[in-house]
Amino acid sequence: MESLSRIQAAAARQSLLRWYQRRSRALPWRKSRSPYTVWISEVMLQQTQIETVIPYYQRFVREFPTVENLAKAPLERVLELWSGLGYYRRARNLHQAAQELMEKHGGHFPSEMELARTLAGVGDYTARAVLSIAYNQPFAVLDGNVARVMARLLALRGSVPQPEFRRRIEEGLDLLLSKRSPGNFNQALMELGQTICLPRSPRCSLCPLRHWCKGLKSGKPENFPDPKPRRKSEQWHMAVAVLHRNQRVMLVRGLDDGLLDDLWNFPSAFGQSSSEALISLEEKLGKLLQTRCSLKGPAQELRHNITYRSIQVLVYQGFIPRAAPKNGFRWVPTSAVESAAVSQLARKVAKTIDTARRGQ
Ligand code: ADE
Repeated sequence: MESLSRIQAAAARQSLLRWYQRRSRALPWRKSRSPYTVWISEVMLQQTQIETVIPYYQRFVREFPTVENLAKAPLERVLELWSGLGYYRRARNLHQAAQELMEKHGGHFPSEMELARTLAGVGDYTARAVLSIAYNQPFAVLDGNVARVMARLLALRGSVPQPEFRRRIEEGLDLLLSKRSPGNFNQALMELGQTICLPRSPRCSLCPLRHWCKGLKSGKPENFPDPKPRRKSEQWHMAVAVLHRNQRVMLVRGLDDGLLDDLWNFPSAFGQSSSEALISLEEKLGKLLQTRCSLKGPAQELRHNITYRSIQVLVYQGFIPRAAPKNGFRWVPTSAVESAAVSQLARKVAKTIDTARRGQ
């Protein structure tokens, strides 16, 4: 790899910041640089697409406009507002960190790296993002988009998990970072990766860094960085029961196999085959309801992915006349399922209820 000279870096930085000033998208969290809203948005944006985050962010800060509001809210309400965003640990951590902010930091997100890193869920990425954007501190952030932009700019082979690759990217970033506008600089690089320096077909003619880009000079910018080794997708089967009683349906905590433990779901079980999944589900329901339970078809089929699992889901509808609410499950009015703290899968399953009714 070759690196940029200081003079080239200064020119590239200026071109990038100008591009950002002219072209940056008016995203809702860019209206203010309050550390609280920057923090919320950065946590939501980890592992989640911008378009998905926007409505969640808006609802969240409308309901919890301050750290104090968030700290005092019941966790269940925080999870309800998060439901559908995935990676629910993030919501638990935000709630816990808000309480830590109230107890130890006067309700303010700290401006010191060391203190910021003590908060629940605040790792290197989040701390750097908040400190640079909200407090104008000279920290560069490195996410997947930034790594791709930098790997191309410097024609760097390798991928982020490799320490030597990461070290070189960080070195390049430190040279390029704007000490005057680190927040805009970081957001500009992320945005460049999202809108111009795309993984498969980069739009190089629109790129503010094209004059300095060694990947573009090589003729094949897409060759940088190396493709990510992907965990192979696994095929799974799952049986789901929608149990009805008096216009209500039964929801349980967690999904199966330790997944989605924070959320409400329809009773579900995994299996190596669809019949194995069904047997496990009947067993599970038997224990929960203290009575033998048999589910009959026809089942509706859905597909759903959870990280590396590609799941064939069979949804069975059942009606049970008696079963008192007990620990571990509750009866929820059919119309309220989607506003409860339910998983994305449960939302999909809830949509089958109407179709099943119509088909009856
Ligand atoms: N991804 C993560 N943080 C972001 C931000 N502030 N702007 C654009 N994309 C992002």
